[in-house]
Formats: sequence, C-alpha cells, structure tokens
Amino acid sequence: MKVEDIKKILVVGAGTMGHGIAEIAAISGYKVYLSDISQDILNNALERIRWSLSKLQERGQIKESVDTIMSRITTIVGLDKTVSDADFSIEASTERMDIKRQVFSKLDELLPPHAILATNTSSLPISKIAEATKRQDKVVGMHFFNPPVLMQLVEVMKGDKTSDETAKITYDLAKKFGKQPIMINKDVPGYVVNRILGQINIASCILVEKKVADYREVDAVARYKLGFPMGVFELIDYTGVDVAYYVSKSREELGIRDDIPICSLIEQKFKNNELGVKTGKGFYTYPAPGKYVKP
Ligand code: 3HC
Repeated sequence: MKVEDIKKILVVGAGTMGHGIAEIAAISGYKVYLSDISQDILNNALERIRWSLSKLQERGQIKESVDTIMSRITTIVGLDKTVSDADFSIEASTERMDIKRQVFSKLDELLPPHAILATNTSSLPISKIAEATKRQDKVVGMHFFNPPVLMQLVEVMKGDKTSDETAKITYDLAKKFGKQPIMINKDVPGYVVNRILGQINIASCILVEKKVADYREVDAVARYKLGFPMGVFELIDYTGVDVAYYVSKSREELGIRDDIPICSLIEQKFKNNELGVKTGKGFYTYPAPGKYVKP
C-alpha cells in the first residue's frame, strides 16, 4: 500500500485530540468517520470542529467552505461494520492500556486487512497495544499535539513489529496533513516530546511543592525566559490535568521505571476533578468549562 491508496480515515475518540485530528483529515480532503460512545460527545465534537474551521476561514487558512469540509465527516456511535471500508484509523481514546487494547481488537476485526491502525497515545508502548491485534506490522503511533489543527509536529512511533512500510505511509500521511512529522524508531515511554515535557513538568512541580516559587511564577519563567507559548501549568490545564495524570499513571501501572515520577500537585487536582480548561478549573480558573482564555 501507498499513502495515495488512503481514501477513508476513521478517528476513534472525539474528545480534545480526536475532534482536531478528524478536522485535519477532512481539511486534507479525506472522507472521515468519527466515532465515540455517545451522540452527545459527537455533537459537541462537530460544534468544536465548526468553530475551529470558522476561525481558520477568518484567517484565510482553508481553501474550501466550512460546510464542504464538514460534509466529509460522518459520525458513528460505537464501532460497527459501517467503518469496514476505512483504509487508515487513528485511535484517540482515553490514555489507558485496557481501553486501547479493546479498541484495537475491535478495529482488527472490522477493518480490511490492508488498513493501518494508528494510535495517538502519548506514552503507552505501541508494541503492547499491537498485541491486541493479528496485524502487529500494521500498528503504529501517530502522536498529534493539542490543538492538532494548529500544532505542526507529529511523532510517528514504531513498535517492535511495526513494518517500515507502515511507518513510511504514516509519515507520508502526516505530510499530506500539512504537518512536520518526526520518525521515532524505539518504543520508549513518552517517546521524545513527553520525555522532555515530563522532565519539565516534574522540575516545575518540585519547585512549587518546595515553595520555592508559586506556579504562576514558574509559568512566567516558561513564557518570559524560556520562550514557551504557554506556561508549564497553563499547558497542563490546556491539554488536561487528567491527560498528564494518566500519562504518568499508565507508566507506573505498566511497571515502567523511568525517571519521571507522578507530580503530587497533578494527582491532587485530578482527584478533585479540577481537570483544567475542560472543567473550567485546574491550576487556573476559566470562564466556563471548555472555554480557554489566557490566564
Ligand atoms: N482552531 C482554530 N483556531 C484556534 C484554535 C483551534 N483549535 N485554538 C485557538 N485558535 C485561535 C484563537 O481563537 C486565536 O484566534 P483570534 O486571534 O482570532 O481570537 C488564535 O488561534 C491565537 O490563539 P490565542 O490568542 O489563544 O493565543 P496563542 O497565540 O497563544 O495561540 C496556541 C494558541 C497555538 C495554542 C499557543 O498558545 C501554543 O502553541 N500553545 C502551546 C500548545 C502546546 O504546546 N501543545 C502541545 C501540548 S502537549 C500534547 O498535546 C501532547 C499530549 O499527548 C500530552
């Protein structure tokens, strides 16, 4: 198979990442199936995609009308035979190994033999996800960043059994999406970006826990000295405190002993359901759930 053979793309999970990935695929001209567990979640995703496309249109960043791009997206509650003509799937469900393996086993059953099954995981081993299928050579990582439509980078990660062909097609697809992909040849926890971000997060947490500085001050350093577009804690709120929590927790559950422990500030926020922008409160407070304004 070649990247040109991909006509239909299935995105599993319509949350923060999934809706943005579906949007990119539709902008790039692909027919898209967007699947999640309820129609409410899917309706919310369509609303977010429409909002985002309107913003891109205002700035002259899309060539077609919002309606034309939207018309390429078909929503599906659950996963059934409707998706059996998809050539490529991108899973963007909760960052938990048990959930991802269930999804991959179902995709393996439903999708045609040539289809590539990609995961947007940010930290879980591709090889372990692939074991839930009978096509381990066609399972690959394709990691986008939030917001997918604006972030240029995509990590393409190979599992132990991912074929070179699968990795190449995934890399080429990211290019077709107008992204700047990087190829990661080893299935290491956190890959490259979260490996680095994890260290930054934990260093920032330690400074706050030890009362060396307030989290706002750490964020000011990130913005005004390190040149980050957002503060460290602001970015955790933006991406989701739950995501940051699951990323560290999943490593622990898998027995991956690396040098990035769980940040107790993140754990506390997670337990209080203060998940950041999505709940309207995390490290900072936002005007309404899902409404991001610069803190
Ligand atoms: N679609 C279209 N337009 C959007 C948008 C979206 N999804 N999100 C924001 N915009 C628009 C805003 O509405 C605004 O438009 P306006 O000026 O007309 O109102 C414009 O983009 C600029 O946004 P902002 O004014 O809010 O501010 P910024 O200039 O700071 O840009 C940002 C926003 C691009 C998100 C920038 O702050 C940024 O790059 N932040 C860092 C994001 C990042 O690092 N993401 C990776 C996180 S790690 C991750 O995702 C991995 C995971 O697996 C853990």
